Amino acid sequence: MKEKILEIKNNALNEIAKVDNQKALDEIRNKYLSRASELNNLKKGLKDLPAELRPEIGALTNSVSKEIEHLVNQKNEEFYAIELNKKLESEKIDVTLPSTFEPMGKVHPITRTINEITEIFELLGFSLIKNEFSPEVETEKYNFDLLNVPKEHPARDVQDTFYSKLAKNVVLRSQTSNAQVRQMQNSKPPIKIISPGRVYRSESVSARKNNLFHQVEGLYVDKNVAFSDLKGVLNEFIRLYFGASRPTRFRNSFFPFTEPSAEVDVQCIMCGGRGCPTCSNTGWLEILGSGMVDPNVLRAVDIDPEIYSGFAFGMGVERLAMLKYAIDDIRLFFNNDIRFINQF
Ligand code: DAH
Repeated sequence: MKEKILEIKNNALNEIAKVDNQKALDEIRNKYLSRASELNNLKKGLKDLPAELRPEIGALTNSVSKEIEHLVNQKNEEFYAIELNKKLESEKIDVTLPSTFEPMGKVHPITRTINEITEIFELLGFSLIKNEFSPEVETEKYNFDLLNVPKEHPARDVQDTFYSKLAKNVVLRSQTSNAQVRQMQNSKPPIKIISPGRVYRSESVSARKNNLFHQVEGLYVDKNVAFSDLKGVLNEFIRLYFGASRPTRFRNSFFPFTEPSAEVDVQCIMCGGRGCPTCSNTGWLEILGSGMVDPNVLRAVDIDPEIYSGFAFGMGVERLAMLKYAIDDIRLFFNNDIRFINQF
């Protein structure tokens, strides 16, 4: 019996000495230390031994299985340490190296200005309508005809408007006012919306003008909408956007789609109203066109001008941004120079 135990011990020690991987070690543990192991069976058989032999054999089996267990655990720790070192080696980081810098994106000043304008008009009860309802590639019908712009109007001239070479009567919209028409065709008054977006004009690019710029169109149609509502809303917008201290003025104007019409000027931020190249020495910069929706425009979309009236406006986003942040060249918005954009 004793020999049998010592033989098991020798075998186990040999195997443990030779084992070189975790899986094999687990097998050894199972073979010598599990409930079904030979040693354990011997322990169970102790009770059949003569009483005087039991203490010695019992102590021996216990010490052998303890020793095996100890050696297996030791090996286990060795393997664990090897595994850990491998992992640490492969995942090593040198904290003294300079970090890889991921620059944060910034909201473009134009997007930011559109968001600001939108928030203010939402406060004033206007809803934002999505760009897909006022396409940038538009027909002359929506960009001009339904807005009461006569066929011979100079704005239709190829010098002002980009015409498609492929399709007849298709233009890049020259104003966001197409959104008004589409909105009135697709919903019934009361209508109180704003619609921001890109517009295109065939102009020579300069510090003041770009082929592509942005407008926010606004439209309010309901019963009893009066010019005083237009003035109230736009004054409130200006107060919230520029602050109360910025001098502004309403100026009589003309648009084919409004009657009467007005433009709003804001005092030039570059010269404080004294006159400079930015404002062509007038001391003022125009930020928007507006007016009471012409009855012809309402009729064209089947809204009865005897029952309903409305006002509309279209504001230049770049202008509004330039006047708030004292930017003197519109081209800066389109060059995508990160040094410019990062200032906002
Ligand atoms: N569409 C005009 C422009 O681009 C601006 C404008 C004027 C829009 C009067 C309007 C309006 O809605 O009522 O110059």
